Amino acid sequence: SKRVAILISGGGSNMVSLVRSMTGDHPARPCLVLANSADAGGLARAAEMGIATEVLDHRPFKGDRGQFENALHTVISGYAPDIICLAGFMRVLTEGFVSRWQGRMINIHPSLLPKYRGLHTHARALEAGETEAGCTVHEVTAALDDGPILGQARVPVLDGDTPEALAARVLEMEHQLYPAALRRFAAGDRTPILLE
Ligand code: GAR
Repeated sequence: SKRVAILISGGGSNMVSLVRSMTGDHPARPCLVLANSADAGGLARAAEMGIATEVLDHRPFKGDRGQFENALHTVISGYAPDIICLAGFMRVLTEGFVSRWQGRMINIHPSLLPKYRGLHTHARALEAGETEAGCTVHEVTAALDDGPILGQARVPVLDGDTPEALAARVLEMEHQLYPAALRRFAAGDRTPILLE
């Protein structure tokens, strides 16, 4: 089966949903959870599930993204993944790294791309008066939060929504969308999935 490395920066709820999905006849299995900070809550959750974990702290690289990415590539390559899933990994990856994994690396982003690339997606969607929001799984290319879309899920914006309330509603859909999109991608199917 395909080997999947999952990169996280935080609590790792998407990572957990991905790991839980990779059982039975699923074409992939998790081989690594890597965080760019030892503080990432998802590391303990991965270890509890019996997944190998690594920490590569970006801070000692002092802004030298190239050096950080070379080290990242070395650590990840040690686990020989076929696919990398970015799951709340909050480091921008540059062309040098992305090109080495292009076609094999996917990301989940908390907006209906191409709208709201970057940070603070929910606050920006509310500010703009959107009536719906959602999340997108896409192949990672050198352009930020761009690349072929593998799936999207939509949720309504409700009266009185705060960024936090909207984020929670979207996150629930992320936990459905990302496993579904990974399953297809791992099977070599790039047909986009649409969830309502
Ligand atoms: C998720 O909402 C994910 O879409 C978002 O961070 C959260 C991570 O939550 N990713 C980005 O904003 C990427 N720029 P998690 O750690 O519980 O999966």
